[in-house]
Formats: sequence, structure tokens, C-alpha cells
Amino acid sequence: MKTIQNGTLTKEFVGKQVELYGWVAKRRNLGGLYFIDLRDRSGIIQLVVRPENACYEKAETLKNEYVIKVTGTVALRESPNEKLATGEVEVEIETLEILNTSLDLPFEIAEDTTALEDTRLKYRYLDLRRNRLQDNLKLRHQVTMATRNFLDKEGFLEIETPVLCKSTPEGARDYLVPSRVNPSKFYALPQSPQIFKQLLMVGGMEKYFQIAKCFRDEDLRADRQPEFTQIDIEMSFVDEEDVMDLGERLAATIFKEVKGIDIPLPLRRMKYDDAMDLYGSDKPDLRFDMKIQDVTNLFQNTEIEFLKTSLLEGGIVNAIVAKNCADKYSRKEIDKLTDYVKTYRATGLIYLKLEEELTGSIAKLLSEEEKQTLIDILSLQKNDMAFLITGKKNIVKISLGALRLKLGHDLNLIDSNRYELLWVVDFPSFEYSEEEGRYVACHHPFTAPKDSDIGKLLTDKAHCYSKAYDIVINGYEAGGGSIRIHDQNVQATMFEALGLTEEEIKEKFGFFVDALKYGTPPHGGMAFGLDRMVMLLSGTENIRDVIAFPKTASASCLMSEAPNVVSDKQLEELHIALTK
Ligand code: AMO
Repeated sequence: MKTIQNGTLTKEFVGKQVELYGWVAKRRNLGGLYFIDLRDRSGIIQLVVRPENACYEKAETLKNEYVIKVTGTVALRESPNEKLATGEVEVEIETLEILNTSLDLPFEIAEDTTALEDTRLKYRYLDLRRNRLQDNLKLRHQVTMATRNFLDKEGFLEIETPVLCKSTPEGARDYLVPSRVNPSKFYALPQSPQIFKQLLMVGGMEKYFQIAKCFRDEDLRADRQPEFTQIDIEMSFVDEEDVMDLGERLAATIFKEVKGIDIPLPLRRMKYDDAMDLYGSDKPDLRFDMKIQDVTNLFQNTEIEFLKTSLLEGGIVNAIVAKNCADKYSRKEIDKLTDYVKTYRATGLIYLKLEEELTGSIAKLLSEEEKQTLIDILSLQKNDMAFLITGKKNIVKISLGALRLKLGHDLNLIDSNRYELLWVVDFPSFEYSEEEGRYVACHHPFTAPKDSDIGKLLTDKAHCYSKAYDIVINGYEAGGGSIRIHDQNVQATMFEALGLTEEEIKEKFGFFVDALKYGTPPHGGMAFGLDRMVMLLSGTENIRDVIAFPKTASASCLMSEAPNVVSDKQLEELHIALTK
């Protein structure tokens, strides 16, 4: 068995006889000597083969990624390599055994590879040999270990829940699995273990967790995968603060154990309404400031036609200020920003620059007084730039929020080594779906409303808030949860508020509603997105970098070619006929 990790060899080993295993990362001939970089999971060690050595000829046949076993003696290197952890030493080889050969590689296994991601995904097992991916997976392992240890100490039980389930109402489309023994019936893969973890509370488990696979058939983005992993938690006899306290202590433990970073607790709490108002997002990136400011009042008596119309239609005018960058933005650049905010349904982008005086798209239309008030309200200094958007509140907020983030990145305002964590709390219970023309649940339908809003569930949906909370890290939703409804009457009202008929309730959640009737304890919980946590901790913006075998944006695996066609026989057994 391999007992030495190549990356651990240091000066202390000098003179020692070692047996090493690994992959040939590089082989070069310098002045008749062969130098071989031998790689394993822990790193690289340089091997030397001298011409007089019996295995010299064998060394000549080595190619990249051959698997070899060598024995030799550790020696000090004449010219140390500071970039390598093992850079002070090398191993003078005495024997060399080729354990396996390798085909020529489709791409070079190098840290700064230029290979296309598609090629790397097709040969994922080769890409996994790169340090960066190995480091990411090590970090992922450390996060799950820290999680398990922490939750174990806190008295949680790790319990598995089924993967072949009944459809759960998490909001995305389900992945379905046909049942052979129950013709025409389907299982759904869980979007999360939500219902089961609540049933575990009914079952008296009190404190549950699971590192759970979840499946959601939704549009994929850089931070989303069709199958992903949650650190899923549920607790009985708790309120919002209890769950947030546990969640933030877990997050802080992970940061400390994995990155050595101290996260000051308690984390700040920001109401959803404030997050939307000030940052145009329910997951604000607080690594830089640039808050959204309301300047509607200033334009109450405006003569500027489009602003007047917008305000008459109930619109607002909001602004953000980018400091000391007016000279950086040409007309062309501003046009690009305008196109950008239009993708968030803004009708246009007003800009103002404080140069010798206030200039910009509407500057000529403003009175001297209006200009001065704007400068004062926005605290504009020379070379500052203000961006204003008018229109419906939610469009203004969201488009300015998106512009804020873009400017933050473009102007390098974000310190990528910094971590800003917060809780966004007091989410609305419902959101209006333009598409469906009705209010739908913001979270799942088991989310408890604020006690003070229970009476409003049927009559004033726009002003009902829930006991839900999200943990946000650097502008990403890293996790979220809520206190659940444990009272069957409140649950019935919630279903009614969501427009579910008796039949639908019975069909979808009958067993669950029944369970609530048997002494359900008050309970609540949350789930961290494990992949997203690891993504944030490893500093990548691509979730695929932290998953061993990820899927592409079209939910396929380029390596195994899943999803794939199946045989007619399999379809027949499943009672499925494909329409051509
Ligand atoms: P939610 O849907 O907010 O809550 O999910 C919890 C966390 O899971 C992560 N996440 C994802 N990560 C990668 N790819 C995806 N497609 C994806 N979707 C979600 C996010 C998110 O914050 N059952 C509730 C939790 C609860 O109420 O206890 C739930 O699933 O980081």
C-alpha cells in the first residue's frame, strides 16, 4: 500500500529510502539526466534518474500520466524550487516500475489550462487530476465533516429520507421516475426533503440533519445545478431566532475550520423590504456600499416630460452614485449600461456627472436649484456619477440593484477576499405572479406567517409577512428556511389563500395534512446549499468547479452522455410510449 504522500516530502526525509507512487506529470531530459515530476493527490515531487541507473531506459519510455512506482533516496536539491512545497528535495531513483500506461491526453493537465470546459467535462476524470479541482473537493469534504461534527455535538441526528418520492411543492419542475410495478404512476425526485423532515418532527426526532441530494428541473445558471446538495436541518420547539442562531454558528464554524476566518456573530439581520429598497435584491452583496436612494420627491413638480408621465403613473425615481468615476464613462459605455438595465425591464437610464458643473442626460432640463438639491441629496463630489431610473417600483429597484452589482464589479469595488454574511428576514408570504395573475407562495406553503398576519391571509395578501429567513453570503443566497405552520387550521387557511381546492390539497398533501393533526410540535429549519457554500469558500463563481461530476447548462453529463435514449424493452416494461 502507498504510505507516503508525495507532497509531504521535506528536508527531514533527506537520506531516507522511500517508495513512491503516482502519475508522471512531466518528464524532461537535462544534460543526460531525466527529471520526472511525480504527482499524487498531495502534490508533486521531483524524481531524478541518472544514466548509470538500471531503470534509465525505462525512464526514457515514460509519457505523461503513466502510473509508476519508484523506490529511491531523498536528497537535497541543488537549486530549490520555491514554488513547490517539496521544492527543497528530490528523489534519486533506484527502481522504477510502470504500473500503467496512458493514451495521449485530449488536453494538458495543467493548472492554467486553456482547454475548453466542454472537453474537460467530457474527460472529467482527467480534469479531476488538476490541483484546483482536487483542492475544491478536499474543501467540500472539510465542509461536510465540519458540518457533521458540529451538528452531532449539537444533538442532531443524521437521518436519510427517500429519493423516490411524491412530488413536493418547492416551486421548480420535478424530475419524474416512472414506476414499473405501478403502471402510469410516477415518483418524483425530491426538490428537497422538506415534507419528510417535517414528518420527522411529527415523528418526535426533535433535531434532524441530512447532507441531502436535491433535484430541480429549472433553468440553470452559474450557481445552479439540476442535482445539488443541501445541508438540510429541522428542529422542534424553536422560533426564528433559534434556527438563525444555529445556522449562523454552523456557518461560522465552517468558515473557521475550513478557511481559518473569524465571522463575527450574531450576523446582521436585514428586513426583506429594506434589502429591496436599499440594494434592489433579496440577496444584497454588502462588500461594497452604493445604496439605492429615493429621489422621487425631487421630481414631484418636474417639467421633464418622461419623468412627469412616469410619476403620474405611480412610478418612482431612484438613484445610485458611483464615486470618482465620471471620467471613466464615455457615451458609448453609458449606452452599454443602458442596454444592460433594459434587460431588467427598465425603460432607460438617466446619468449625471459632476464635472465643473452637473452634466448628463437630463442636466440641461434641470433648474439650477434642482441641480443643487440633487448634488446635496446624493452628496455628489467632483467626478462622481449618478445613475437614475424611473418607473414601477419593483422594476426600478431590481434594475438599479443589477446595475449596482455590475458597477461594483466593473469598478473593482469588491474585495474578493472579504466575506459579508447576513440574514435577510421578514419575507412576504406571497408574491404576485404576473404570469398566473394571482398571488403565489414566496416560499413553500408550509411557511408560517407572522402571528400578527394570520388574520390577513385571505384578505390582505400584499401585506402578509412570513417567519422565513435567508442567509446571504457575498450576494449569493447560501441558504434559507422558515418556521413551519404546525397548526392545522392555519395550514388550511394558507392552502385556501394559495387558491388550492380541497381536492388538490387532499391529492397533493393529504398525508401531510393528516399528520399535522396528531400532535405536531412547533418546528422550523433551514437548508444551506452545500455546493454554493463550497463555491463561495473556494472563490470560484462556477458551481461546476466544486462538484465531482457536474452537469452542463443543458442538464447533461458530457462524460457519461446522460440523459440518453433507453431500449424499447425498457420503455415497454415501464408502460411508456414515446410520441415521435
Ligand atoms: P431553498 O429552495 O431556498 O429551500 O433551497 C435552499 C438552498 O439550496 C441552494 N439551492 C441550490 N443550489 C444549487 N443548485 C440549485 N438548483 C439550487 N436550488 C437551491 C441555495 C438555497 O438557499 N426546503 C427548503 C429549506 C427549508 O425551508 O428548510 C429549501 O429547499 O443555496
